[in-house]
Formats: sequence, C-alpha cells, structure tokens
Amino acid sequence: MSEMQATYLKDYLPPAYRVTHTELTFDLDPTATRVKARLHLERHPEREAGLPLVLDGEGLTLKQVAIDGQPLEADEFEADAHSLTIARVPERFRLDTEVEIAPDTNTALEGLYRSNGMYCTQCEPEGFRRITFYPDRPDVMATFSTTVIGDRESLPVLLSNGNPVEQGELPDQRHFVTWEDPHPKPSYLFALVAGSLEKVEDHFTTQSGREVLLQIWVEPENLDKTDHAMASLKRAMRWDEETYGREYDLDRFMIVAVNDFNMGAMENKGLNIFNSAAVLTHPQTATDAAFQRVEGIVAHEYFHNWSGNRVTCRDWFQLSLKEGFTVFRDQTFSADVNSAPVKRIEDVSFFRTAQFAEDAGPTAHPVRPDHYIEISNFYTLTIYEKGAEVVRMLRHLLGWEDFRRGSDLYFARFDGQAVRIEDFVACMAEVSGLDLDQFMRWYAQAGTPEIDAHGEYDYATGEYHLRLSQRTPATPGQSEKLPLHVPIRLGLVGTKSGHDLTLKLADAAGGSETLGKDAVIHLREAEQTFVFQDVEEAPVPSLLRGFSAPVKLRYPYSREELAFLLTHDSDGFNRWDAGQRLTMLALDDLIAAHRNGVEKVMDVRLVEAYRSLLDEPGDDQAVLAEMLTLPSEAYIAEQQPVVDVDAIHAAREFVRQSLAWQLRDAFLAVYRDNQNDEPYAPTPEQIGRRKLKNVALAYLMSIADDEAIGLTQAQFKNSGNMTDVRAALTLLAHSDRSDLAEPALKAFGEQWAHDPLVMDQWFTIQVTRPQPDVIERVRFLMEHPAFSLKNPNKVRALIGAFAQNRVNFHRLDGQGYKLLADVVIELNRLNPEIAARIITPLTRWQRFDEERQVLMKAELERIRGEKLSPNVYEMVERALA
Ligand code: PHE
Ligand code: ZN
Repeated sequence: MSEMQATYLKDYLPPAYRVTHTELTFDLDPTATRVKARLHLERHPEREAGLPLVLDGEGLTLKQVAIDGQPLEADEFEADAHSLTIARVPERFRLDTEVEIAPDTNTALEGLYRSNGMYCTQCEPEGFRRITFYPDRPDVMATFSTTVIGDRESLPVLLSNGNPVEQGELPDQRHFVTWEDPHPKPSYLFALVAGSLEKVEDHFTTQSGREVLLQIWVEPENLDKTDHAMASLKRAMRWDEETYGREYDLDRFMIVAVNDFNMGAMENKGLNIFNSAAVLTHPQTATDAAFQRVEGIVAHEYFHNWSGNRVTCRDWFQLSLKEGFTVFRDQTFSADVNSAPVKRIEDVSFFRTAQFAEDAGPTAHPVRPDHYIEISNFYTLTIYEKGAEVVRMLRHLLGWEDFRRGSDLYFARFDGQAVRIEDFVACMAEVSGLDLDQFMRWYAQAGTPEIDAHGEYDYATGEYHLRLSQRTPATPGQSEKLPLHVPIRLGLVGTKSGHDLTLKLADAAGGSETLGKDAVIHLREAEQTFVFQDVEEAPVPSLLRGFSAPVKLRYPYSREELAFLLTHDSDGFNRWDAGQRLTMLALDDLIAAHRNGVEKVMDVRLVEAYRSLLDEPGDDQAVLAEMLTLPSEAYIAEQQPVVDVDAIHAAREFVRQSLAWQLRDAFLAVYRDNQNDEPYAPTPEQIGRRKLKNVALAYLMSIADDEAIGLTQAQFKNSGNMTDVRAALTLLAHSDRSDLAEPALKAFGEQWAHDPLVMDQWFTIQVTRPQPDVIERVRFLMEHPAFSLKNPNKVRALIGAFAQNRVNFHRLDGQGYKLLADVVIELNRLNPEIAARIITPLTRWQRFDEERQVLMKAELERIRGEKLSPNVYEMVERALA
C-alpha cells in the first residue's frame, strides 16, 4: 500500500534535477488528449551528480520518451503507476515525452478535465502529474510555453498562462494558440482552458502606468453576472498597490468560471479559474452574502499573484505561508471596503465555530503540519484561517508600519523563490527587532490555547492586577505543549465613566510604561500578572479586543458586567462578544433546564439587553443585525462538554421565541424602518439594512402569527433581489406549516430550474429544515434532475448542508449518519477530494453521547471496509485512531 505512506517535513531534500523551461503542446480530445512535453532540465547544484531522474506521473499512458532528441529504449527507463524513472541522465539535457490522457472520464476534477463541455485544469497541489510526467513539486520553478490545439468550431477559445504569442489554423478544422508565461512558476500554477466561452473585458492602469487587459470568461448565458467580480477585481488591484505596494506584472489577467470545481477558486498565474459560485452574481440570483464572498475570493486569488506566485512555498508543509498570509490580506481588504467590525464579527464567529472544532477533533494539526498522507486533506481551516490569525498576531505585535516593512522585505528578498514559513517570520523579526522565536510555536503546536483571566482592582492603591494563565490541550500526536507568545489587545472600561481608562503598565524594573487607552500586551509565560497603575476607577476589563489571538479566553464576567460592556465597550467587536457571552450564559441555564426536564425560564436581563439594542439602533445596521443574531447551534455545541443536539435546539428556539414575544413591536418597527426602495446595490449600507430587516423578520416568524406570515409571503412574492427572496423562502420553508412551505418551494424551484447556482440554494433551504422528514427529502432530492454527485457544488448544497442540520443529521435512528456514509463511499470512487471533505461531521463522534458515538463509529467502520482512496483512508484512520 505504497500510496498510503506518509510524507514527512523532516525528509525534505531539494529536487535532484530542476526544470528551467517547459514547453507543452496539448492536442485536445475528450478521450485521447495528447500532451507533448519538452523539459529543459539541469542537475540541482545542491544535489550530487549521477542521481536518477524521477518524474511524477499519475494515470498517464506513455507514448514516447527521448533525451536530447534520442528516443530511449525500453530498458533505459521505467514507468509505473506513479512515476517515470530514468537511471542515467546528463548534467543538463532536454527531455521529450508524449502521453495520452482522458479528460472525459476524469471525475476527480484534478488535472485536465471537462466541465459542461469545456476543458479546464486544476493542478494544485498535485494535479499536474495527471497531465504529464514532471517534477511536480512547488520548489521547481520554470518558465512555460504552451500550445493548445483544438477543434475550431467547438473550442473557439484556447487559453493558458501568460500572454498569447502566436495563433493559427491547422488541418481538420483545428486551430491553435501558443501562450508564453515569462515568470518562472511551479507546475501547480499551470492552467489551460478551452471552450465555447464569451468574455467581458475591462482595463486597469497600474501605479507605474502599465495597461492591463482584464477578462472574465463565462458561458454565454452568464454574461450578465460578471459586473461585480470585475469591479471587485479592480478594487483589489488598487488596494494591493496602495496597501502593500504590490503591482500586477503581466499584460493580461483572466478569470474563467467553471461549474465543476472542487474548491472556491485557483490562483493560476494570469489565468485564475473560479468555481462559478465564487464569481457569478446577479441581484436576482445571488444573495448579499454571495456578493461579498465573490468580492473576497476574487481579491484572494488576485492577491496570490504576489503572496503565493511571485514568492511561493518550498514544499506543501509550507502551505500556510501563502494561504494564511493571503487570507489575512483578503480579510483586511474586505474590512476596508465594507464594514470593518461586521467583517471581523463574521470571520470570528465562523472561526470559533469551525476552526475550534477542527482543532479539538481527531484531525487537529498545526498550521505547519509535519507529516501527511494526502496533501489535499490539508486545505483546512487551520492552514487557511488559523494561519491568517497567526499573521494577524504578527501585525498586532509589530504594528502596521513595521509589518508592512517586513512584508516589503519578504517580497524583495524572496521574489522568484520557493521559501519556508520561517523566512517570512524572519523578515518580520528583522525589521522590528522583535524576538519571534517563541512565536514560531504557533506554527508547530496544534490545538486552541485556553486562557484564564482574573482581574482585581485595589481601591487603595489604584492598581489593577490582571492575572493570565495559558494552556493548550493535548492533540493527536502532541501531548506536551509549551506556552505561546500571545498578543492580547485590551482596554479597561471605567464602571463610573463608561470610558476607556489610560493603561499604565508596571514593568519588572519598578518603572512603568504608558500605553494609551487601547493596547496590546504580550503574554509569554504559562502564568503572568500584569499590573496597571493609577487606574482612577474600578474597571471592567475588555479583553482580546478584535479577537487579537485565536484562543479561548475565559473571564468570570457577571451578567451585569456583560450588559455593561454590551453598551459601553469602545471596541465594536467586543461589544458584540459581550452580547454573545451574555446570551451563552442564558442558553447554558436553558440547556440544563431542558436536560433536567425543568420548566424553562427566560433571563429577563437578556430581554432587557436586547430591548436596549432595539431602542437605540445606532447607525450601523449590519452591526446591530449581528448583535441581534443568536449564536448558532454549532457554536453553542462547541461550548458544551458533551453535545446534546436536542437540548441545544430547544434552548435556542426558546430564546428566539421569548425574545420575539416580548419585543414583537420593536422587531416590527425595525422591519418596517429598514425597507428600501432603491435599486439593488451590494453596498455596505444596503446590505446592513437587508440583514437587519431579515433578522427582525426571522424573530417575527418564530411566532408565525398572521401578520408575520403576511409580511414574509409578501416579501417572498414581491422582492426583486435574492437576499430578500431567499430569507423569506427560508422562513416559509422552515416553518411548521406545510401549506406555507410547499407552495413556496415549488414556485421557486420551477422559476429557477434553469439556473444551477439558484438550484443549489433551493436544495440547501430544504435540507436545513428542522422538521423530521428531512432525511427522506435528501434521498428524494438526490434523484432530482438538477442534482449530480459529480458536481461538488451540488454535493455541498445538498449533502454538506444536510450534515450541518444538527437535529436531523444526528437523529437517533442513525439514518443521518448512514446517509452521509453512503455518499462518502460513492464519492470515494468519483471524487476522493470531495469525499474526504464531506466526511468531516462523522469524524467528530467523540463530542457526542454514547449512543450517537456508537452509531457514528459504526458508519466510519463501514467506510473503512471499502477500498479507499488515500484521501478518505487518511481521514478515517485519524478519526478512528
Ligand atoms: N489555492 C486555492 C486558493 O486558496 C485553493 C485551491 C486548492 C483550489 C486546491 C483548488 C485546489 O485560493
Ligand atoms: Zn488561497
């Protein structure tokens, strides 16, 4: 079982041979595409002479191989299922190979495949080896010249990286285009697209005056869905110049939308390939959330041109070098062009729900893992989102100016190279003079650190003592953890004045340093006490402002203190967080009541806190909408030692309905005040209003009286944008009244049957219903003509969404688990990468009660009994270890 072997970071060696230039010719055919590769190779200066040449190759039919024009005899090379080995090669030589591949039967969507008749590629991380024999690793960087040959009629558009340099007609109604990419790149950034596509064009003039042609290529029916992506691209290009001094470096930048794509999008040099869900928008078909997602992903892929492409990763253990930094960059971009506090609230609530769960589960791994079986399994929330939080901590520790200088140094020093995470951190240390050795532990240690905080105010001396202790729980393969270097941004809010007090921090030498009213302190020890002097009044501490570190911070706040912070904290994020903590206290009581069979009583302090929010709506509707949104069931579950799905659902519903009953008029007023007749625009103001209005409507529909139903039905029928239509449809479809749900679902399904991205939403809405008939509905919808297991978006929309339906997925008859396992088994054959992703909820069995644990493990065992791909094998083995 050689493919099940692990790869270790400690075993890294430079490649024996490197490629300086790569020439490719594709002769496209659905079942027999011919790929000719001419590689200009030379021995790596750090490796010894005489080593064999070993190239990666997966599922390739080799037709020819020659060195410096001399065809090789059968005994001069060896080709097996994963590689081509040539024992004796010169120091510097030209290798020609020709292989045949079958894009049509490629359901894994890695390498060259077909989507809706068009050809496209996905090469990260190890897809290029499914196209041709190559040293398929990111530290081999070559210039590329690519000729694409295809049928003139059905494939009028032939694209690859870089600039088109030649095109022409060929016999048999075929034509060709040759592309040249002058920037040396690893094979994972290679891309090819061929199809009957149409384009929308625009231009961008860079800060140094270079004219760049911008193109978005789509299927003809989607030409009216590209405006927002194009506008987002231009904003991102300008922002990266202004914020990071990064300028685009080719004459054209292309984006292509494809329907079948495993991930969101891919940053191939000059030719980004996007999941259509991550690029297409139209007010009538995409929600505000989708508009914002598109903006963020377009920016993310564009930003990779520097953080990933110009400077890339030495090996895949360094994946977070490009992903963590780029996610941090796209988060800051979105914050800058939208509402910054809302962006942070959204990112953190997602992070604390999903990444914390990953970090606490059997697949927990460090931001830089030290081994893997299948690298595709490591495109995780830890690598991406925790990686971004680690970069954000560097920003906190250095301050923006030094951080920017560190970033400049990094790009200047390593341009055109494949480097490691410590190279990045070393630049940050060098420009700031800060010792970041201890900080490097963030990359090596898995698990979410837990920080306990205690504060004490001494009226006599005016001193405030903040005692912090940290510990990181054991994770698989890592039992001992060392203290981390944690930046804690904080303020002390005066209980009398309601204002931030000046922070004067005592130092060890008996002196003190005045830090201002909002500052970052450095926690480095397992236990450390910070003494603040001359604190004029008793404070409530506002800790970890803006979520300055990816930790769980506990502080024994009373409900009164939380209510105080909810209205007085100067940090918008922490005001929201105080509300979440207050709600969690109430929920904890209700969950306990439910479990003990005691009558549930609503916490009046929570009602009053919500009332005060509604009475003084402020001017950021989006922030208010977030403040009025209850923690999700998944987030609540994260806080429980043993997850009781039914108690959580019941408690949360109880809070929702109690608030709705007691604040009904206020919610009605908010709903009415935030109607908007302007034409749709995805501006932060409009998005905030719609969000607030729809949060209010959801509360009202939790009572479902005639007025609420009337408003919801009217919104469903009359609204011209998908945000409002979907919000209303969801409320109707999730109500207990099938006479409301069914007609609305039917009308919507018929209206949008032609639009796959809208049908995805239709699937999701139905399978996230709390009603118990959902499992049957999922099985039924899997037979729907708009559904296909071969399309990852459909799998996510139906199966992935169902597995997030906590009460139904975790049904005690085990049918939810069985359904997911059935799909995993089938997808294991079709698309292992997607199979290994959707299995995740089953791997979290340890969090549940005995009965469910047994059921979940049984399904994992059933999967283990199959002939598994390395992807699913690794996930199951970790889950059952
Ligand atoms: N590198 C892509 C991104 O972050 C993600 C991706 C990974 C896409 C693997 C496809 C395959 O933006
Ligand atoms: Zn990325």
